Amino acid sequence: MNTDVRERDRPAARRHRGVFHPLTVAAVDRLTDDAVAVTFDVPEELAEEFRFVQGQHLTVRCELDGRELRRNYSICSRAPDGPLRIAVKRLEDGSFSAYANERLRAGDVLDVMYPLGGFHVPLAPERGRTHVAVAAGSGITPVLSLITTTLAAEPSSAFTLVYGNRTARDVMFLEELQDVKDRYPQRFELINVLSREVGESPVSSGRIDADKLDLLFTHLIAPDEVDHWYLCGPAGLVRLVRDDLRGRGIGDDRVHYELFHAEDEEPPPRRRHTESGTAAAATSHVRFTLDGRSTTVDIDPDTETVLSGALRVRDDAPYACRGGVCGTCRAKLCEGEVDMARNYALEPDELAAGYVLTCQSRPLTETVVVDYDA
Ligand code: FES
Repeated sequence: MNTDVRERDRPAARRHRGVFHPLTVAAVDRLTDDAVAVTFDVPEELAEEFRFVQGQHLTVRCELDGRELRRNYSICSRAPDGPLRIAVKRLEDGSFSAYANERLRAGDVLDVMYPLGGFHVPLAPERGRTHVAVAAGSGITPVLSLITTTLAAEPSSAFTLVYGNRTARDVMFLEELQDVKDRYPQRFELINVLSREVGESPVSSGRIDADKLDLLFTHLIAPDEVDHWYLCGPAGLVRLVRDDLRGRGIGDDRVHYELFHAEDEEPPPRRRHTESGTAAAATSHVRFTLDGRSTTVDIDPDTETVLSGALRVRDDAPYACRGGVCGTCRAKLCEGEVDMARNYALEPDELAAGYVLTCQSRPLTETVVVDYDA
């Protein structure tokens, strides 16, 4: 969790929620047999709009076979002042990931929304901290920029990466990780864990499971001495490590995580009662503010979320994953009550401040007011 100015969203005055900009692809580089890095050209006039912080992600929109697709990808640039780059790993049945891996070329144009996300901690150049990341597969993408940026900005800090993959051929950014190792031999440690290859030690072979964590935390990493943990990968892995750390008494404020798979379905039915025990309203009058303009829509909370209602009247309402993962649809709840089904994106301080994910929120009260600009 960040303790100073949160970089999840820049002030609305400088950025426009839900607005995509056409960016030209500068390069498509193969990372592994089934993953590519896509680098964008950002024109000078959009440099501020696309300024990013290590660990953030962005949304790409394109039309394939007559269908609009939106996909959210972590930025894997090595430094916030470096070229804007994402990594796209081919997913089974993934239409955009197949397109990016097979057909996307330098010179093509994609619609891109500005970077978002709070998966980082503020840099502290004057402190010597211990950072540990546990990532699997393409979970390395935000972690790469966390590692390179932190080691460059915090000269006394150390970073350990525990990186799980099936085989050595699946390891993304192998050369770049080796470069980091060469550059910071005393401060960066890479622990590769390969599930389908026999490694040099019990730690380096097999899946990252409870036994593996026990080995790691007994012999290689002292959890009590770690200032910040970063977990990125499938939900099962992130939960496993988070729960293990909780069991060892590590506070949630030191454990930051990001999932990369959204459940592609509408949230489940809402609660039948508000917090105070009043029956949930049958219909709801939702007022939302976006880019300084307020709009009202009546919605049926049993079939719609705040986001789907908003999209019915304004197609610029911001969203990407619709699964509670990316945080693009975040808004501040100013009045009324909602039932938010899933949240893998908002930190405890944002929840306490009243933020909700509108793609996961069904109204419970007759009036609901949210502000996307807050
Ligand atoms: S659109 Fe991704 S969390 Fe709502």
